[in-house]
Amino acid sequence: MKIKRVLKWSVVVIVLALLVWFQIAYWTSTNDCGHNTGAPTNPMKAITYCDYGLANLKLEEVEKPVPNDDQILVKVRAASVNPYDWHFVEGTPKIMRMMGVGLRKPKDTRLGVDFAGTVEAVGKNVTQFKPGDDVFGGRGGAFAEYVCRRAEGAVALKPANVTFEQAASVNIAGITALQALRDKGKIQPGQKVLINGASGGVGTFAVQIAKSFGADVTGVCSTRNVDLVRSLGADHVIDYTKEDFAKGSERYDVILDNVPNHTLSECRRVLNPKGKYVLIGGGGPNDSRWIGPFGRIIKTMVLSPFINQQMGMMMADANHDDLTILADMMQSGKMKAVIDRTYKLSEVPAAIAYLEEGHARGKVIITVE
Ligand SMILES: NC(=O)c1ccc[n+]([C@@H]2O[C@H](COP(=O)([O-])OP(=O)(O)OC[C@H]3O[C@@H](n4cnc5c(N)ncnc54)[C@H](OP(=O)(O)O)[C@@H]3O)[C@@H](O)[C@H]2O)c1
Repeated sequence: MKIKRVLKWSVVVIVLALLVWFQIAYWTSTNDCGHNTGAPTNPMKAITYCDYGLANLKLEEVEKPVPNDDQILVKVRAASVNPYDWHFVEGTPKIMRMMGVGLRKPKDTRLGVDFAGTVEAVGKNVTQFKPGDDVFGGRGGAFAEYVCRRAEGAVALKPANVTFEQAASVNIAGITALQALRDKGKIQPGQKVLINGASGGVGTFAVQIAKSFGADVTGVCSTRNVDLVRSLGADHVIDYTKEDFAKGSERYDVILDNVPNHTLSECRRVLNPKGKYVLIGGGGPNDSRWIGPFGRIIKTMVLSPFINQQMGMMMADANHDDLTILADMMQSGKMKAVIDRTYKLSEVPAAIAYLEEGHARGKVIITVE
């Protein structure tokens, strides 16, 4: 009896302690907004947000960054918008907030990742780049006039025949498409590859990359994008408003899922017995605001060891070598970025709102003057 009572009170105390800890953590979760009251000494314009929500985005003057010994300073000429940015703006799925993004307010008040621009200065240890080089890559805070980033990492030289807007499209979407097909899908010439969501940022790159590997490519998109997806090289295009790929008779070796709108068993039905299902997308505005795509990710991980088909998710890992591969593909004309709309730096909120609708055709670009 005594042990039972001790256990009961221990549980109550632990739960209360966790609740108190959560409350304290929530209310002390803040960012640097309001701490730097003085005007920047060397200002540049950047998009900032002190609280979650699109309405809280501002174009502000902040301190221009200074490169350390291992960094380059890039004058940004173009940036691109990704669903990734939208997740950070909204702080969803909310589980992200508990994973260090900021419980009540965003910890990092800067936005944007993909950029292309010109190197303005380099740190003393940098040998890969010099002032005047045109480069592209990824770095947090890319919705700004300048970014600093380590020279060793997700940055590469921009080919001269590729525009800044095209190059700024590549970092997240192009790398995701490449790594999903090559590393997770282990794509081989002649294989049948299905790309669900073939007309978006990732999909438009994926169709072209899969073709360059010699695959037989099927793209899934809506009616208005059928011609676009075919023009990118898809051998077959399924208009999802008229036909459901998961009910068809075709079987695929690799499925790249940018729009997980079918159950895993529906996808498995059209996957060859040893086929590979690569989960890329999920967690859009219509998914659970708390766990987003994590439920489906866990299901694929649990299922995979028990079946012959390989089911898994991928997380893009931007790096210099893969950016260089994509730059070469663009330079040689094997791949191009499809640019849907272009916005100014001051219009980042409108650009993110447009992407959030879920029907961008290729990439949404921010030009920085
Ligand atoms: N795992 C990772 O590392 C990683 C990296 C990048 C992106 N992602 C995720 O991957 C997803 C795709 O990213 P993205 O940049 O390509 O997004 P996006 O550019 O916003 O993709 C929008 C595209 O989705 C298509 N779409 C919407 N509903 C569809 C449906 N029912 N069937 C087929 N296509 C449909 C739209 O085509 P229509 O207009 O024709 O409907 C549109 O072209 C997002 O969820 C993103 O968060 C994950």
